[in-house]
Amino acid sequence: MVEDPADWLARLAHKADLRARAGLRRQLRPRGTGDQVLDLAGNDYLGLSRHPAVLAAAASALADYGLGATGSRLVRGSTRAHAELDAALAGFLGVGAALVYSSGYLANLGAIRALVQPRTLIISDAHNHASLIDGCRASKAEILVTPHGSVPSVETALAARGDRPALVVTESVFSVDGDLVRLADLHAACRRYGALLLVDDAHAVGVLGPGGAGGVAAAGLAGEPDVVVTMTLSKAFGAAGGVVAGPRELIAHLVDTGRTFIYDTGLPPPVAAGALAALELIRAGDDLRAELHERAALVGKRLTDHEVSEPDAGVISVTAPGPEAAVAWAAGCLERGVAVGCFRPPSTPDSRSRLRLTINVGVPRADFESALDVIAECAP
Ligand SMILES: Cc1ncc(COP(=O)(O)O)c(C=O)c1O
Repeated sequence: MVEDPADWLARLAHKADLRARAGLRRQLRPRGTGDQVLDLAGNDYLGLSRHPAVLAAAASALADYGLGATGSRLVRGSTRAHAELDAALAGFLGVGAALVYSSGYLANLGAIRALVQPRTLIISDAHNHASLIDGCRASKAEILVTPHGSVPSVETALAARGDRPALVVTESVFSVDGDLVRLADLHAACRRYGALLLVDDAHAVGVLGPGGAGGVAAAGLAGEPDVVVTMTLSKAFGAAGGVVAGPRELIAHLVDTGRTFIYDTGLPPPVAAGALAALELIRAGDDLRAELHERAALVGKRLTDHEVSEPDAGVISVTAPGPEAAVAWAAGCLERGVAVGCFRPPSTPDSRSRLRLTINVGVPRADFESALDVIAECAP
């Protein structure tokens, strides 16, 4: 039976009401140009989104190429800035080749699809980001979710799978709690059982590894033939866009067949050029990384009355008593000029609601420390 239009809207309103009662409504809060809020919520880890060299490169590409890419990367959407960025990222990550997508979400969808064959078993960490989960689901392969960070569980699943191809999917630094997976051990298990390993290095690139080359490089796995790296340019790069990096054959396969690459407009050229400038700053950014790690360690020392995650990178989570309390806590901080992330189910990997704090070394150190005081004072 066809539903009456009024009924489906009533159904959506009813669902919104249920979410409101559970403290799970979400709100957009547009930033103004004179925004003075201290940012402990974004992912601009190294403060590069407004760096003069990044802005100058983007402005120059804007003048040269215009605003949009005007087409998919295979049609008119690849400029020299895109090609240089692909090549520079491959060198930076220590892989055969890299390919820039318009978002990290689409890069994950494309990479997972390319790595799945008929009968592949995907083994996916329980805390994986939604884009990895959606990539696994869209691939139509069988998915086994293993307990978070448990290498023995992955190993057991690999041993039990028989002669099927297997793909292990994980983040390096997890996006909600900021913990780093034991990548070398995970890779050793994959190698032992002949599985491919896909690592989403979104929160580690720029922050960990030699010259900021990420969690995979930090674990000594850069360029391994059974490892594929995905990442986003929307975090430490302060830009936007996604990347798949790995053996040349994989990148050629994605260019020829990857639907989320082929049927999507390329990254805007000013963003590609800005990201290329950001890459140079990241390589030279050891001092920024040292400052980031110092600040991350400070959070637990200041918020001693709360459950604070052990930071391996620039993401720290602070447990809140429940979803409404998390919302009220974050709102209280914002009223006092401090933006913090507020994560509630279903955006958390378990039923816990949290404040998520992210380090942005572009925020002056003294302001960062006062922001921690504000967070402590606004606690429910
Ligand atoms: C771990 C992880 N992977 C992928 C993405 C998606 O990247 P993008 O925002 O570029 O689509 C994000 C966040 O946005 C993320 O945190």
